[in-house]
Amino acid sequence: MSGNIITIDGPSGAGKSTIARLCAMRLGLRYLDTGAMYRAVTLHCMRKGIHLDQPKEIAGALESLVLRVELTLDGPMRVFLGDEEVTDKIRTIEVTRNIHYVADVMQVRNYLVEMQRKIGETGNLVTEGRDQGTLVFPNASLKVYMFATPEVRARRRFAELKQRGSDTTYEEVLEDVSKRDYLDMGRELGGLKKALDAVELDTSELSPDQVAESIVKLAKSRLKMQTRKIDKGALDAARAEEERRREGGK
Ligand code: C5P
Repeated sequence: MSGNIITIDGPSGAGKSTIARLCAMRLGLRYLDTGAMYRAVTLHCMRKGIHLDQPKEIAGALESLVLRVELTLDGPMRVFLGDEEVTDKIRTIEVTRNIHYVADVMQVRNYLVEMQRKIGETGNLVTEGRDQGTLVFPNASLKVYMFATPEVRARRRFAELKQRGSDTTYEEVLEDVSKRDYLDMGRELGGLKKALDAVELDTSELSPDQVAESIVKLAKSRLKMQTRKIDKGALDAARAEEERRREGGK
């Protein structure tokens, strides 16, 4: 491994993507969103019309998968299926609800883990997911495990949905959050787990900026990394983009 790799793992709704993105910007690293890769494989399977409850069919769909991700220095990650950009199309509720079928399939995980390790070969990466510090990059320079109680995550998500006029109840959102936790934590391979050497961050009472700042501080003190000043326009654009993505149903 040549440059630093920072892994950020945690449950859905802990604010990982915004925080990972902010850290990448401040530290001048590339940002890898591994959830987006599982989303893209899910979209591919849905488009092929295969039976999602049949792991063999999902594994078979890998043969026709042409997945490409484009990482930029501190920018968003773009996702392509063949020549088609699907960066936004993978954020629908339907994709979100079907991911667990795909993420449970060993062949899919092996395929994506290999792709992620290849991307990590040159280091200089902030990578975000569920298994980055435990399985994909066990030798990462800095590992963070972030969490917030299901109630806090559900409250945040509920507030967002309400603001957008959704009539979903808090209880429904909480049930959804708990179901995803259950599926993510119970996964045999690549399940959500804190790496023994990960720094734990409780994000319940903190804003994404505060959490990002504490990770940046850790990178500076432990890895002697330099930070960059980011202009406000770029920061606002990154935040707005994350917000827009969540609107798509994440
Ligand atoms: O991070 P995001 O919510 O987009 O991830 C969507 C889903 O993809 C997760 O709920 C999980 O099932 C799966 N995933 C995974 N391993 C990762 C990243 C995501 O299984 N490294």
